[in-house]
Amino acid sequence: MSMFSLKFVFFFLQFLQIVNLTFITKSGYLSSNITIFGQFLCNSKPLSNQKVLLVEYDKLDPNDLLNTTITDKNGKYTIFGEEAEFHGMEPILCLKHDCNSIGFVESWEIDKKYLDEVIEINEDFGKGNFIRKNYEKSNAICKEFFK
Ligand SMILES: *[C@@H]1O[C@H](CO)[C@@H](O)[C@H](O)[C@H]1NC(C)=O
Ligand SMILES: *[C@@H]1O[C@H](CO)[C@@H](O)[C@H](O)[C@H]1NC(C)=O
Repeated sequence: MSMFSLKFVFFFLQFLQIVNLTFITKSGYLSSNITIFGQFLCNSKPLSNQKVLLVEYDKLDPNDLLNTTITDKNGKYTIFGEEAEFHGMEPILCLKHDCNSIGFVESWEIDKKYLDEVIEINEDFGKGNFIRKNYEKSNAICKEFFK
């Protein structure tokens, strides 16, 4: 092989690497994170000592538990999760609470537009508010992790 073609091969390999890196970046193979904070109440009283989970919904792999915390004496919580995902992660916030003495699992599907941001989620479950609709999919996912 001549010096010229060797150089060319080397250049071509470098070019492939650049293309590959660009592809990875564009397809979102990056670390994403989410921070969620807020306060949970039951009839205006703090829901303290309740489990809060951050779960990552995954169409192809098993769903992941990203983090866990417990609400403080004021019903307040902050939870952070981070993961490298091909399509950007799909986080779900899960809460198990005993408002009105019945164990409920609640879930919130977090829109991808909030990735890498800090968002606030508050709820008072005492106001006939504790059966939320249209969350069957995420509720089922949350229940996997509260077993
Ligand atoms: C869980 O939360 C802690 C405290 O915010 C943080 O340091 C850690 O990186 C989190 N774990 C994951 C997997 O995101
Ligand atoms: C979340 O990700 C963004 C973008 O990569 C970064 O700027 C930010 O510092 C991260 N937040 C935390 C709490 O790690």
